[in-house]
Amino acid sequence: MVKANYSAWHINPKDFSNGWTDIEKLQFFARYAILAPSGHNTQPWQFQRRGESLVLGVNPQRELPFSGALAAEPYVSLGTCSETLRLAALGFGFGVDLYYKLDKKTEVETSVRGRLVPQPDLLKAIAERTSNRSLYKDKALPPELLKDIVKNEFNDLHVWRTRDKQSVDFLARQTKAATETIMSNAEFRAELSKWVRNNVTKQYDGMPAFTQGMPTPPSLIARHIIKHVNIAKGQAKTDAKRLKHSAEVILICVKRSGPKAYLDAGRLFARICVLAQSHGIASSGVGAAVIDPQAKQNVAEHFKLTEVPTALIRLGYATKKAKHTPRWPLEKVLT
Ligand SMILES: Cc1cc2nc3c(=O)[nH]c(=O)nc-3n(C[C@H](O)[C@H](O)[C@H](O)COP(=O)(O)O)c2cc1C
Repeated sequence: MVKANYSAWHINPKDFSNGWTDIEKLQFFARYAILAPSGHNTQPWQFQRRGESLVLGVNPQRELPFSGALAAEPYVSLGTCSETLRLAALGFGFGVDLYYKLDKKTEVETSVRGRLVPQPDLLKAIAERTSNRSLYKDKALPPELLKDIVKNEFNDLHVWRTRDKQSVDFLARQTKAATETIMSNAEFRAELSKWVRNNVTKQYDGMPAFTQGMPTPPSLIARHIIKHVNIAKGQAKTDAKRLKHSAEVILICVKRSGPKAYLDAGRLFARICVLAQSHGIASSGVGAAVIDPQAKQNVAEHFKLTEVPTALIRLGYATKKAKHTPRWPLEKVLT
């Protein structure tokens, strides 16, 4: 039986009706949008109906007061959610406009624009995507396919990617150093521990410890361990190894830091992960080297980037399947 906190993943696309009003359609697309990846699985979004538009805003209770500013959150995660909604609409053959409102509150207003050729594979990919933290096979991705997956249509972003061993090793070293720095910080660990869950959790958000490969018995005290024990060295080694075992490493960089570019970065993040999934390619975000200010600067200097590295994604063919993480159902995040 599907547990309540995982039920959001089970959507029957046949329940969709072309005869619905725009707002009814958008609400159905939002069922897919909430499956988007988010930092620590905070799911910092909330939806509001406004006439025939559906507006995505930030849920202030799900922000990350300590690491949020460093990780461009909650904007990046609002971006992943918005783009997943747009991809779901495409899945059913509808275009959706995303209009950013960035004055007082950050909001993304979504409205149905018109008909397009349906791409049902996208729906399957959204519902199958997970962050897969396994080591990826030593097998390159087909170059033309990769080009399509990472195609950047945002003029405030720059996408930099590599599979060159020396460059990947450099990023792995930066990830290791950055993870050690971040995870040695008691405030960061205290915040992270609030989002770490045991493997049999009934909660609707956060990261069950199986996402980091932890079996159930120790997962029961994972939260306590993260908060009180400095596991920086072990985590740093693990993340560096993951990076080295990637077919391609992608940096999403912003030309000018700010909410708009961060939303776009999140959108591109989600698009890359979903498109990769639709071709059987695994993905996972590895944030440390773009969160820790020193590592971020080192990365930009080393690769002579004039833009600011904001998200890092590894892609490749997974060696293990990854399980889904919990989600709040749409009804709980829609007003
Ligand atoms: C911008 C961003 C950065 C992320 N950074 C990391 C990271 O540094 N390490 C990690 O293990 N997961 C990272 N993730 C993955 C999230 O933890 C994951 O999306 C969330 O737990 C939900 O799980 P799912 O992606 O499997 O649905 C990141 C996700 C996003 C959107």
